[in-house]
Amino acid sequence: MARSKTLTAGLFTMMFLAPSILAADPDPLQDFCVADLDSEVSVNGYPCVPTSEAGDDFLFSSRLATAGNTSTPNGSAVTRLDVQGFPGTNTQGISMNRVDFAPGGINPPHVHPRASEIGMVTRGELLVGIIGSFESGERLYSKVVRAGGTFLIPRGLMHFQYNVGAEEASMFVSFNSQNPGIVFVPVSLVGSNPPIPTLVLTRALRVNASVVELLKSNFASGSYFIPRTVE
Ligand code: GLV
Ligand code: MN
Repeated sequence: MARSKTLTAGLFTMMFLAPSILAADPDPLQDFCVADLDSEVSVNGYPCVPTSEAGDDFLFSSRLATAGNTSTPNGSAVTRLDVQGFPGTNTQGISMNRVDFAPGGINPPHVHPRASEIGMVTRGELLVGIIGSFESGERLYSKVVRAGGTFLIPRGLMHFQYNVGAEEASMFVSFNSQNPGIVFVPVSLVGSNPPIPTLVLTRALRVNASVVELLKSNFASGSYFIPRTVE
């Protein structure tokens, strides 16, 4: 009897909580809520610009029409179309990126804390790698994806792309969040501000302090390119 009561309570909780747990961003409560990026009000997302002041173009953007400049240390350029670059996405739970790669270019290992990602390679050939969590044995899932091919990155899993072709490559990705966020793993580990204590990293990475110091010096402020939005 007690067991079936617990089961009923569990099912009840799952039924009513599941939709809110599965959604990446909260649902919109109106058609449009164009982000007021300059508002000083601090809320989850952005307050809305009055629709009468939003103009007609907030549903359109040509930001992803142009390839980014891939002459960077990573040999890639990420053009972000999140809520900061496309304020119409505010409250819509959706955003996009375009990434261009020189031959041999990489998009370094990174994580999106607030979104799953789905992408399509539009030219060239990219090795796409996704690393499962500790629970799934940190398995690396990888494949060379060619133009027209798609890939899926579950929320929170580390992933990377590498242009293995002889030509430039490009891909477009979408997220189920207006603000997926990005954690670049190398930068987080050895380029944080202030830095993680060297002792923590020597033990975590099982290397000498000199190795950690060398890595840290590569990422010391200003001396290493951190991929940013291409304006
Ligand atoms: C690619 O993985 C991206 O987040 O732009
Ligand atoms: Mn990504």
